Amino acid sequence: MSSRYLVIHGPNLNLLGEREPEVYGPDSLDEINRRLVSWAQNEGMELRIVQSNHEGEIIDAIHGARGWAEGIVINPGAYTHYSYAIRDALHAVALPAIEVHLSNVHARDEFRRRSVTAPACRGQICGLGWYGYRLALEALLRG
Ligand code: DQA
Repeated sequence: MSSRYLVIHGPNLNLLGEREPEVYGPDSLDEINRRLVSWAQNEGMELRIVQSNHEGEIIDAIHGARGWAEGIVINPGAYTHYSYAIRDALHAVALPAIEVHLSNVHARDEFRRRSVTAPACRGQICGLGWYGYRLALEALLRG
């Protein structure tokens, strides 16, 4: 049986490709997801991928990972900077999680430097574009 992982893309990430391409790159979310699925299949991993612009839906997706997922890769978008509810959900399910940001959040606005969700994660990857998701999956698989 293949190992199963949940990938969560938070608010505004559905607009990738159109949204500030100089910051987030030219790839659409579908393109990124296709690359992730193709890499994961080769590694014997099964991905479930969710994108939501709503905090409660992201929390439901995290809760829903209980019982089947071996880990979570999450880009909480701007919720990173203030959602204690998402942080609590990650703590609650106690699955290994890795936080990913496409952009280098430390090289941008001051408010982006603080993540309230990262303390509930095993680690954080930022500034490497879509490749950060791939590395996060690899870290979960091998870790
Ligand atoms: C982001 C960084 C956040 O600060 C921002 O609000 C996003 C995207 C990233 O992937 O670089 O929506 O999470």
